[in-house]
Amino acid sequence: MHSLGILLSGRGSNFVAIADSVDAGRIPDARIAVVISNKADAPGIAIAQERGLNALVIPSKGKPREEHDREVVAALKQNKVDLLCLAGYMRLLSPWFVQQFPHRILNIHPSLLPAFPGLEAQEQAFAYGVKVSGCTVHFVDEELDHGAIIVQKAVPVLDTDDEHTLAARILEQEHLAYTEAIKIVLEGKFTVVGRRLVTNVTSAHRGI
Ligand code: GRF
Repeated sequence: MHSLGILLSGRGSNFVAIADSVDAGRIPDARIAVVISNKADAPGIAIAQERGLNALVIPSKGKPREEHDREVVAALKQNKVDLLCLAGYMRLLSPWFVQQFPHRILNIHPSLLPAFPGLEAQEQAFAYGVKVSGCTVHFVDEELDHGAIIVQKAVPVLDTDDEHTLAARILEQEHLAYTEAIKIVLEGKFTVVGRRLVTNVTSAHRGI
């Protein structure tokens, strides 16, 4: 049984999509071991509590990054987390944190990386005038929005869109993409060559 950890800071819709997939058996052989928010008032952590999940608030405000990261990693290890999913976690992880879970931290970003990393990616894409945007689930490495790509989904930008309608359609795809990516990683039927993740490899060539 895999133990998922979720880190969030806000709304929590990607967390809810993952939790629904776990409950419905779309992510087999997995449970959510802990949900952690760095913000006490994050709607996502309230939802985790309502669902009876192990929900922790570990405030980050006013704390040096290393100290906060140490507290979060301790809680994840205590709960035996073997795959960590960042779901709207508005903090950069320190290199030390990333090294605690090698190739076991995923993030979702609302653009087709490497386009539009950083904050407000949907607004950036809309303002740039791209005709196609989307979302990316990727491994977390020591650079922002940078690790090897696991799943991407494209979303056309319509002439009738504004940044809100575009963001809403991207979000629908995010919810599907995260479940797909978690399944790929937990099944382990992939290899990463350079930056390229390739699935359907034979067992002799599995892994990173
Ligand atoms: C999503 O757009 C995600 O791609 C980005 O932060 C947002 C989080 O939304 N990293 P939610 O909290 O999962 O609803």
